[in-house]
Amino acid sequence: MNTHELIHYDQQHVCHPYTSMTSALQLPLVEYAQACTLTLNQGEGSFDVVDGMASWWCAIHGYNHPVINNALNKQTTKFSHIMFGGLTHEPAIRLAKTLVDITSPSLQHVFFSDSGSVSVEVAMKMALQYWQAKKQSNKNTFLTVKRGYHGDTFATMSVCDPVNGMHHLFTGSLKPQLFAQAPHSIDTAESDNSDIDDLRNQLEQHHHNIAAIILEPIVQGAGGMRFYRPDYLKQVRTLCDKFNVLLILDEIATGFGRTGKLFAYEHAEIEADILCLGKALTGGTMTLAATLTTPHIAETISNSEANCFMHGPTFMANPLACTAANASLELLLNSDWHTKVLQIESQFKTELLPLKSFDCVEDVRVLGAIGVIEMKKPLDMQKTTNLLLKKGVWLRPFGKLLYSMPPFIIKPDELTCITQAMKAVVESVELNNFE
Ligand SMILES: Cc1ncc(COP(=O)(O)O)c(C=O)c1O
Repeated sequence: MNTHELIHYDQQHVCHPYTSMTSALQLPLVEYAQACTLTLNQGEGSFDVVDGMASWWCAIHGYNHPVINNALNKQTTKFSHIMFGGLTHEPAIRLAKTLVDITSPSLQHVFFSDSGSVSVEVAMKMALQYWQAKKQSNKNTFLTVKRGYHGDTFATMSVCDPVNGMHHLFTGSLKPQLFAQAPHSIDTAESDNSDIDDLRNQLEQHHHNIAAIILEPIVQGAGGMRFYRPDYLKQVRTLCDKFNVLLILDEIATGFGRTGKLFAYEHAEIEADILCLGKALTGGTMTLAATLTTPHIAETISNSEANCFMHGPTFMANPLACTAANASLELLLNSDWHTKVLQIESQFKTELLPLKSFDCVEDVRVLGAIGVIEMKKPLDMQKTTNLLLKKGVWLRPFGKLLYSMPPFIIKPDELTCITQAMKAVVESVELNNFE
């Protein structure tokens, strides 16, 4: 098939995320990806764009990294996959050790799975089995906050924002969970505690039935790219202890440096009872996720009637994925990622914050290597994407949000290319050029 035929076949037969199954658009074909450059083809020859998405938070070292590639090549000559039931292997053991070493001291047990959504399912199941083991199986509901996102499987959908997650489409299939109001954004006056008051009220009323609170720490990603204050998270931890409820932190998007801390919970200096990691874990090369928990929870589950934790994916701890994660973490931990992320933050602030003055812009916010422009009205995805591509940039806007979370290795001139393209979108909307 030539490029035209490939793109046409894709449009007719291949499903893409959150897209019509029958009237899909023609999508640019990726021919090559290197560092922060994607080589695309729309049927009229190849062209390069700067990647501002890191493939949805994942590609922190950019694409085609020789260290990760070499590690993968070496592992394929030994074995690419082996069942994890009854057998073990060095890549998984080494990765578990690194994760135990770099996360909170209380997290000592690591469960590997294939995707972020599954790692959240695993976390929720751990919480349920924990309370069953303690003969409190009435504690089987989850409390979360509005505007959250935790994945697309059924249990995870039940704790996603009910409006964004279109819960009405799945009435009767989703377990009803408890939702407190979304945490206030980071710049709200410290005296306004109505968000935490609402959470406390829910705990006071329902704690006998609540297994765990589940939250994305500091950054609510797909639910609106919102940043909230660390003090909120600190108070959540205190309330969980007071009301005997577990705390699950979903660091799938925020983990591995993105917010300026290695893990976003470090902004609040708290520890989770159960922690979910994914996305950037392998530097964006393979799909892999991990759920970590404490010795107390692990022992309680294991000493119960079931005797075991009831989960075991076929591709659990896939050796290639673990190898990629080991190489990626070695790269990250031996690099000056913190300075790099702070440089990206500072450049985003300088180049994006002035766009707040446009009438069509509701808000501009920056945290770590995340830059967000929230428009007053939803953006036309196709027209916006076309303009961005014309400006030599790959971004994927959604709703009112135009945002970038580039690879950490991005160069200042590449980042300027991204912020200039974002500015061009804002100017086009302001001048009604998209109408
Ligand atoms: C916070 C959070 N949790 C869970 C998920 C689901 O991860 P995956 O898409 O790998 O299933 C995502 C994905 O965007 C996420 O951002």
